[in-house]
Amino acid sequence: MSLSHIHIRTYENTCPSQTDKHSVIQDGNLSVTPVLQSEDSAFGAEVTGVDWSRPIPEETVAQLVALQNKYAVLIFRNTGLDNSRHIAFSQQLGEKLEINPFFYGRENDRLKEALLFDVGNIQLDGSLVERDSRRWHHSLGNALWHTDSSYHQQRSKYSILLSHGNPVKGGSWTHFADMRRAYADLPQEKKSELENLIVEHDLWHSRKLASPIVYGNPLPHELAAKPPAYHRLVQTAPDGRKTLYLAAHAKVILGYSFEESQKLIWELIDHCTQPKYVFSMEWLFGGDMVWWDNRQSMHRANPYTESMTARDVRRSTIIDDGPLAYGVTLEEKPAVGWKPQTMAAT
Ligand code: OGA
Ligand code: MN
Repeated sequence: MSLSHIHIRTYENTCPSQTDKHSVIQDGNLSVTPVLQSEDSAFGAEVTGVDWSRPIPEETVAQLVALQNKYAVLIFRNTGLDNSRHIAFSQQLGEKLEINPFFYGRENDRLKEALLFDVGNIQLDGSLVERDSRRWHHSLGNALWHTDSSYHQQRSKYSILLSHGNPVKGGSWTHFADMRRAYADLPQEKKSELENLIVEHDLWHSRKLASPIVYGNPLPHELAAKPPAYHRLVQTAPDGRKTLYLAAHAKVILGYSFEESQKLIWELIDHCTQPKYVFSMEWLFGGDMVWWDNRQSMHRANPYTESMTARDVRRSTIIDDGPLAYGVTLEEKPAVGWKPQTMAAT
């Protein structure tokens, strides 16, 4: 399996929109501009009217969560938030935040803040991440379609990515795909085939796909830090609609061979990332912030390249505390044809 099997698309539609045809919806003090609208669904919205200069009142948090359940990705421009207020807002959205494993050493991390992940491209001394460093190769996996932390048995529900400094105009986008609508559009026969499938997600699988030489054999401490996890493919989104829970981390479908699994997984990812389900959010200003729901969307970063410009983006990740947070237990697996030897199928 290598990247040559994967169809890498480019996308034209951008956020902010290049046209004026997007309507603004008033929701109390907030103004909401949906990004992708179809007859029966909306995906992504730019929201203004939140006063980020002070703690966010609980009523506003509830209002934002309702919008999040509906749109799955919320974009806020120029928030002016710093690390501690970014973390404080994230902590209002769930019981726990993910802890950074600091794979490259905490001493080498610019933020040194265990509740934030430095997903930009700047090193401690201000220079850009070096080509062929382990961090460079690790980051290449973020340019594959994924949802964050599906490789954790207790998955994460939200990610909040905040930009700092002055991003270079035209320098970076994050792409988002609407998994609810992509699921709804599948033929009934396909839906029935997928209904009870269980997927093994493994961080090292996506790292290997993006960087087969460097991550062909992850280091023992890496493997130990992130063992695989098991989740249902078809899930219920917060708004009650069905959705697909998929990512480049998806390695094996229980009961299928590795090859059959990868074929179906990438066929589905390809289906879900057709331009009609995707928007591209351009990072415009320091303070821009995007909050996405990992349970009902996928996203993709720009890959690191020799010509990339400095990018300082920091992510908090809110652990799922809902009913589907813990995925599939060992006892549930045999029901879908899982036998212990399937685990060695790579
Ligand atoms: C992430 C991620 C996308 C980007 O932080 O989880 O995938 O554009 N980021 O940096
Ligand atoms: Mn991500």
